[in-house]
Amino acid sequence: MNTPGVARTAAELQDTIARLLAGTGKERPALGLVPTMGALHHGHAALARAARAENDVVVASIFVNPLQFDDPADLARYPRTLEADLALLGEAGVDAVFAPDVEEMYPGGEPLIRVSSGELGTRYEGASRPGHFDGVLTVVSKLLHIAQPPVPAGYRAYFGQKDAQQLVLIRRMVQDLNWPVQVRGVPIVRGADGLAESSRNAFLAPGEREAALALAGTLADLRDRAAAGRPLDLPAARARLAAAEGVQLDYLDVVDPATLAAVPAGPGEPLAANALALVAARVGAVRLIDNMELIPA
Ligand code: PAF
Repeated sequence: MNTPGVARTAAELQDTIARLLAGTGKERPALGLVPTMGALHHGHAALARAARAENDVVVASIFVNPLQFDDPADLARYPRTLEADLALLGEAGVDAVFAPDVEEMYPGGEPLIRVSSGELGTRYEGASRPGHFDGVLTVVSKLLHIAQPPVPAGYRAYFGQKDAQQLVLIRRMVQDLNWPVQVRGVPIVRGADGLAESSRNAFLAPGEREAALALAGTLADLRDRAAAGRPLDLPAARARLAAAEGVQLDYLDVVDPATLAAVPAGPGEPLAANALALVAARVGAVRLIDNMELIPA
């Protein structure tokens, strides 16, 4: 396993990318970018491996983006684990890592111009974290531009399906603003007990992991109902999850996978088309999100 080299500035990263692409000897090599905030887990390794499988050169970024944190305490306690992250990325076949500091990404402080996530950015996760998705889109747009290959080359960027709303918003940004990059969504990685991998799982106190399993359990029940052609009865599913020990439910919704618009999921109506079940809840002090695809019979 090779530990990937680290570029600390945009200029260094651009030189590295140019050199690595030229080194492939291909006329039209492909570059894969894996943006992360570090504190990496198996879910991130899956992103890196997906990028490795489809591209000639793979670059990951590690940057804890202050713009997407509404709570300074949350930003301060976000784990910084660079050495372990580099080892994981090296293992997954990443060629180089971009790890800028805040001054490199936002010289002179907060940017005057930001990308707006529109009305969709105010729903679900955006409802409890105002400005979060504008911060995400702003940093992702910077990263996509900084890593843009200099020669005729394929360009793909990889994001986890666990952050379903983030993925939809990034796809829309790239589509609405005509950026020459393909956005790839990579399936959620789950532990053996079914809990979706997340950097936040490390903050679950003993016993809370068990309580958190109610989220994936509820989603799996909705998935099974959809597959069996039974009505989802979302209000009943919400009530059961809200009553689960140790879980403070924020939302449980069934939505269109492309637009995140709510779809009918009452007690009397089986699902008519593919949908996504989204959940967010607090378990102890930890806010968790998860989602699952629902495919009707
Ligand atoms: O999903 C994340 O880790 C972050 O939101 C991202 C996409 C790296 C932007 O900071």
